[in-house]
Amino acid sequence: MTYKSNHKQDKNEWLERLQSSIFENQSRPESKYLQLATVNQKNHPEVRTLVFRECLESSSTLIMHTDIRSDKISQIHTQNCAQICWYFSVTREQYRFTGSIKIIDASQDDKQSQRKQHWLSLSTPAKTSYFWQTPGESLALNQAKQSDEVNRYNIINDDNDSISDNFALLSFAVSEVDHLQLNTTPHTRKRYQLKHHLWQEDTINP
Ligand SMILES: Cc1cc2nc3c(=O)[nH]c(=O)nc-3n(C[C@H](O)[C@H](O)[C@H](O)COP(=O)(O)O)c2cc1C
Repeated sequence: MTYKSNHKQDKNEWLERLQSSIFENQSRPESKYLQLATVNQKNHPEVRTLVFRECLESSSTLIMHTDIRSDKISQIHTQNCAQICWYFSVTREQYRFTGSIKIIDASQDDKQSQRKQHWLSLSTPAKTSYFWQTPGESLALNQAKQSDEVNRYNIINDDNDSISDNFALLSFAVSEVDHLQLNTTPHTRKRYQLKHHLWQEDTINP
């Protein structure tokens, strides 16, 4: 039987729960990996794993990093609606987030301090990957060029201002959350929807 109750939230309950999930699962490195699904130009779904980087409480936004040359970028330009699925194995919880993505690249003057802060948080190998050849291109054709580009990165590596133009933040604004908990008997499932700037919560049948 489905139990359903509606009430308006004056605090963001799902976000508080997500922060607890992140904390309670921090012993498992894979807990920072989530799956992002977008829709391609043929209207087919495409899903891939990304590293979760930050949660901005004030805007209910999840931040990830990517390369602007990757396929997901043109897909997001065409259709910015997307879903994230994220499983936490210690607490046995799944979050499914529905929302829209903004791409924060070198062109947004007002977001450069945020972009730089994220760039500086990266390891050298992670920074270097943004100077490689275009993701998805044949390596066999480009191996010599690639080693030139890595060398170029090594030369500028000491300069903290040298953010690769290929480096972008994905800013995922959450509008709906489906939170399934398998660590309870019976399992519990809640849906949170953003309506008129307020979160509405439903308890639904798992
Ligand atoms: C564990 C893991 C973590 C990953 N983290 C990222 C990431 O943070 N950002 C990213 O763009 N790709 C990341 N990838 C690679 C993506 O899954 C994907 O292969 C790549 O971004 C190209 O996707 P696209 O062609 O759909 O754009 C990761 C892959 C794995 C397996």
